[in-house]
Amino acid sequence: MHPILEIQDLSKTYASGFQALKRVNLTVQPGEIFALLGPNGAGKTTLIGIVCGTVRASTGRVVVAGHDNVSDYRAARELIGLVPQELTTDAFETVWNAVAFSRGLFGKAANPAHLEKVLRALSLWDKRSNKILTLSGGMKRRLLIAKALSHEPRILFLDEPTAGVDVELRRDMWQLVRELRETGVTVILTTHYIEEAEQMADRIGVISKGELILVEEKTELMHKLGRKQVTLQLQQPLAQLPPGLADAQSQAQIALSPDGSELTYTYESGAGGDGSVGALLQSLAAAGIGIRDLQTRQSTLEDIFVSLVSERSAA
Ligand SMILES: Nc1ncnc2c1ncn2[C@@H]1O[C@H](COP(=O)(O)OP(=O)(O)OP(=O)(O)O)[C@@H](O)[C@H]1O
Ligand SMILES: [Mg+2]
Repeated sequence: MHPILEIQDLSKTYASGFQALKRVNLTVQPGEIFALLGPNGAGKTTLIGIVCGTVRASTGRVVVAGHDNVSDYRAARELIGLVPQELTTDAFETVWNAVAFSRGLFGKAANPAHLEKVLRALSLWDKRSNKILTLSGGMKRRLLIAKALSHEPRILFLDEPTAGVDVELRRDMWQLVRELRETGVTVILTTHYIEEAEQMADRIGVISKGELILVEEKTELMHKLGRKQVTLQLQQPLAQLPPGLADAQSQAQIALSPDGSELTYTYESGAGGDGSVGALLQSLAAAGIGIRDLQTRQSTLEDIFVSLVSERSAA
């Protein structure tokens, strides 16, 4: 079986001379949920644009289920559904017409049963006769997904599906993506949110300044890079770490500030690491060390970038 998507040596230099993508290689298998994680301007939308044929690559090629997306454009494009980053819809159109029209664009025969299934799955069936302008922001976003699914694509691109969306809708969206996968659709999404990638993806690609600097199974990535940190302000400064504490916790994870007034404890998020904070607090209490205040922080995408980039420049 062909991979659903093969991206080979893809580069893009815009007319302005700006190089937005640098020799990107990526293979995605059918049924995967792949998250492309990267900061603003990293090249995510450019990459999606090239795959979908709205942006022309400078070098390299894209093959969708065995179809070259330039020499065999129609066959390749038909397999793709795109939910764009920008919300642009015809406000006066009805939900049903918008979805039916999107399907028609691909020259597919009408299939009301499929459209009904899609609208029901997206909780838009009751709104099918509504004009788009009467929908809430979240419904409009779901409509974009319905449009992208109207022609029964095998691969769905979601460009920042949950930017500016409330927590509840974000969770609905995650659930929806999982359900889609069960129907055999491959999903590629872009996001700034590490939590989103963590919740949904099987594999994560990190893109920075046009380079795909890492592609990894999610569990591996979170294991390697996901860290939490607790900082404790002590009631009395310590001259050194109490021996029991230093033994119980590995020295590398726990550190005393130079003036002895603060302890920092760094641990892996998830996978049992969280429980060890309780143990630390108990051993501090047992050693008679009082705590004035504490803060916790979780590694952010930015931290992960910083550590990736520094690893790379050290290599
Ligand atoms: N048509 C264009 N002409 C020139 N430069 C462009 C064009 N489109 C995008 N760029 C530049 O290419 C870079 C990548 O843009 P792109 O939209 O792919 O980033 P992104 O990762 O999707 O960012 P965001 O998270 O903000 O959506 C940016 O520096 C952007 O300014
Ligand atoms: Mg973008």
